[in-house]
Order: sequence, then structure tokens, then C-alpha cells
Amino acid sequence: MISLCLAIETSCDDTSVALVGADGFVHSLVSANQDLAHAPFGGIVPEIAGRNHSLHLLPLIEQIFKKSGKTWKDVGGIAVTNRPGLIGSLIVGVVTAKSLAQVHKLKLIGVNHLEGHILAPFLRDADYSPSFSFDEPFLALAVSGGHTSLYQVDELEKYQILGATLDDAAGEAFDKFGKMLGFEFPGGVKVDRTARSGNPKAFDFPRSMIKEDNFLMSFSGLKASGQRMIESMGLEKAKAQAPDLCASFQEAIVDILIAKLDRAVVQTGIQNVVITGGVSANSRLREQSEKWAKRKHVNLQIPPLEYCTDNAAMIGYAGILRLNKNQSSPLSLGPAPHSLAHDFIGEGL
Ligand code: KG4
Ligand code: ZN
Repeated sequence: MISLCLAIETSCDDTSVALVGADGFVHSLVSANQDLAHAPFGGIVPEIAGRNHSLHLLPLIEQIFKKSGKTWKDVGGIAVTNRPGLIGSLIVGVVTAKSLAQVHKLKLIGVNHLEGHILAPFLRDADYSPSFSFDEPFLALAVSGGHTSLYQVDELEKYQILGATLDDAAGEAFDKFGKMLGFEFPGGVKVDRTARSGNPKAFDFPRSMIKEDNFLMSFSGLKASGQRMIESMGLEKAKAQAPDLCASFQEAIVDILIAKLDRAVVQTGIQNVVITGGVSANSRLREQSEKWAKRKHVNLQIPPLEYCTDNAAMIGYAGILRLNKNQSSPLSLGPAPHSLAHDFIGEGL
């Protein structure tokens, strides 16, 4: 039985390292954010992301041992995100993890990044633990800049994908809309902040597929509609009305996400729901989903932000669960841009 796992996450633009216990206890989590490096380009530049991972990763691993007081002797295995993600980013984490596993004679496990997001509610630390009643079966909405998917989890390792976005991720729509208004990348947080003084009913944005009796989502029409709206108003006027524009645009995204969650609760009868991924930081999504949960007697769990955005702690928990079931990856483990066929039931919906 492994009691402590070192985890590495480098699938996109955040370099993150964690030490996680078998019960999900996060002994230490350190991350290096690359937003400043990508901001001048208005989006993530894969080459810059990979290069920055290679600069940050080993110093972060050194730092985590110093910070936690743990040593390599305490570590029983290494978990690393090896799919899905940007190949140049994944390579840095995977090759580092394999080398360290070899040097320290430790078991290695490659983890699907999305399994990490799904399991984030089960992490714990001195200030956070999941509500006592939160358990399987549960529904998980993973919503970030790279993904927007809804899963049903009847038991751990059995993740059924109910639906996902057909085009842009919700976070991507937030970021692109922010960019149109001249906000620095990633614009999602600024859209949220600007929306606070705006009227969510001021502009009528489309809510694609909201009424369809399925769990599919689409945000590209909304993004295009935002662009047309700003173009027709002219940038100066749009900037002057940014609070109303942001509030209305944000409301459309929140409405779609909650409508699909509601449909899933009704159809499956499952009352445990987690919202995770960077967009779960959105204040309107939090406010409206909490109201919805109260109304529908849903046991809603939104983990602290550091466990919702891309982080290695969630990868460590997914990894240590598997290592303790005697699963491991060979030293030939490689990075993959997409999930594998057996990762999710119903992938390819
Ligand atoms: O999970 P994450 O850190 O990385 C991935 O994309 O995988 O999520 C980042 C995304 C970005 O699109 C960012 O704009 C969005 O989450 N985001 C927000 C907020 N905070 C972060 N979107 C809307 N409102 C926010 N408060
Ligand atoms: Zn993510």
C-alpha cells in the first residue's frame, strides 16, 4: 500500500507538482502559472508552454520537498498526466516522471487529466474536505478553457460521458469574448469581474442546444453572436457598455451549464453533483448553481479553486488510487493528445 504519491501535471500551461496521500490528503501543492508568458499572444502558445514547463518543473519538485518536509524516502509512487493535452507540454511531465521513477525505483502511473478533474472533490487538506454525504454515484461537470464535459460516475474508474461541447469550451468562449473587449488573456476572470455591475438581461445572447433533450453543448454560436454584437456597436460603445455585455454573455453560459446539469439530475436521479475546472471560479455560476442546488435538493460540491483549476493534486489522487490497486504504467509510457478508448464509457458521443 502506497501512502504518498508525487504527482506531476503539465498538460496545458500550468506546471504543477503535488504530494498526495492515499486518502486524498494534499500534503503540498505548488504550481507555476504561465499567464504572463502567453498574454502578449492572446492565447496559449504550445511551444512557449512546453519551454516553460521544462524551466519550472524540477525547481518545483525541489520546492515541494522543502515545503512539506518530506523526502524521496516517503514517496511510494509517481503519477503524471499523460493525456489529453498539448503534446509538447505533456512530454516534459512524462519524461521527467519516467526518469525520476527509474532513478528512485518507484512505480509510475500515467493519468488522464479529466479523471483528475472528476476526482477533485475528494481531495482534502487542513481547510477543505468534501461534504460527509458526497460520494458515488455523482455527476461531474468539468468546465475550463480546454474542456466542457458532463460525466456520470457510478463507481471510481467507471466514468460515463453524458455529453460535452461540440465546439468551443465554455472557458474559451469567456476568453475570446474578453479578448474582443480588449481584456488581457485569459479574459474569463475580467468578464466575471466586469459583469458584476452589469444587467444580465440587457442583451439577448443565444443559448444553443439548451432545450435539446441531451447533454450536448455548443458555445461557438454564442461567441460569434458576441462578436457580431460588438462589431455592430463599435468597440468604443461596446467598451462603455462592457458591464451589461459581460453580464448578458456570462448569463447565457451559466444558463446552458445549469440547464444541462438539471437535465442530468432529473434523468439519472443522481443528487450528488460536482462542478470543477477553471470556470467553476465564475461568481455567477457559483451563485446560480448554489441557488439551483438548494431548490432541487442537490448535494453540490465545488472544491476550492486551487483544486478546480489545473493542478497536480487531483492527478496525484487519481494516480494513488490506481497504484494501490496494483495498476502501473510501463517505462514506455508516452503522451497522447486525446483520451484513450477505455478511459470513458460513451466517448465519441
Ligand atoms: O482549469 P483551467 O485553469 O485550465 C484549463 O483551461 O484547463 O481553466 C482556465 C479557464 C480559462 O478559460 C479562464 O478564463 C477560465 O477558466 N476562468 C474563468 C474564471 N476564472 C477562470 N471563466 C469565467 N469566470 C471566471 N471567474
Ligand atoms: Zn483542465
